[in-house]
Amino acid sequence: MDSSAAQVETEHVHRVYDDIAFHFSHTRYKPWPKIAEFLAALPSGSFVADIGCGNGKYIGCPVRAGVFIHGSDRCRELLEIARSRDHEVLVCDNLLLPYKDNCFDAVLSIAVIHHFASKQRRREAIEELARVLAPKGKMIIYVWAMEQQRKKFDSQDVFVPWHLQRQFNRKEEEDATKDSKSCFSHTYQRYYHVFKEGELRDLIESIPHLQIIQDYYDHENWCIVAEKIA
Ligand SMILES: C[S@@+](CC[C@H](N)C(=O)[O-])C[C@H]1O[C@@H](n2cnc3c(N)ncnc32)[C@H](O)[C@@H]1O
Repeated sequence: MDSSAAQVETEHVHRVYDDIAFHFSHTRYKPWPKIAEFLAALPSGSFVADIGCGNGKYIGCPVRAGVFIHGSDRCRELLEIARSRDHEVLVCDNLLLPYKDNCFDAVLSIAVIHHFASKQRRREAIEELARVLAPKGKMIIYVWAMEQQRKKFDSQDVFVPWHLQRQFNRKEEEDATKDSKSCFSHTYQRYYHVFKEGELRDLIESIPHLQIIQDYYDHENWCIVAEKIA
């Protein structure tokens, strides 16, 4: 069960982000206000981890002097973009973070947990975020909601198409299936587990040492801010 979940993630999450990184990054430049507010409110001296940071959109947010944000992601291509913006980033997997226990004052997980293809793996990913968070530190988690205005889902486990525009396809020459009339060179299917109302809350409540302090809906996502209690 779990190995098939890992296989789905390899094929329908990691390979997809590797291939669409350049195009994806062009669509991700505007920080969402509530996440920027979370960062701006952190006290000076905070050490923050953005796990699944993508192109580092949130690492570049304005923060108080002395707040430092470090990013990590599975996708090397997206991290190259983050690195070209002078962000400090590391390639690693959310399920096995190469950090000591209790070492960050705040943790961001924006649009990452919905890419894990089993409940057990989603739980383990959040447990790993909790492990690296210091006592009294805060984490903010955003996941796609099943309840969206624009998109309707038949199931909670879905493939969402990404139409790679030809101009962003770095493998264009190798793509034997290309249709020269289309501005798209390939359609990828990204795996998502879309969360029902209350599901993220229940998952976080089942993890020791996390106490929910905010639970809200924002930009078609269910969102939680939680604190680590000692
Ligand atoms: C929708 S993007 C969000 C990127 C960024 N957080 C943002 O808000 O712009 C999802 C990100 O999660 C990363 N990701 C997916 N599975 C991961 C895993 N197991 N470990 C680390 N990163 C992962 C992807 O590579 C991708 O960068």
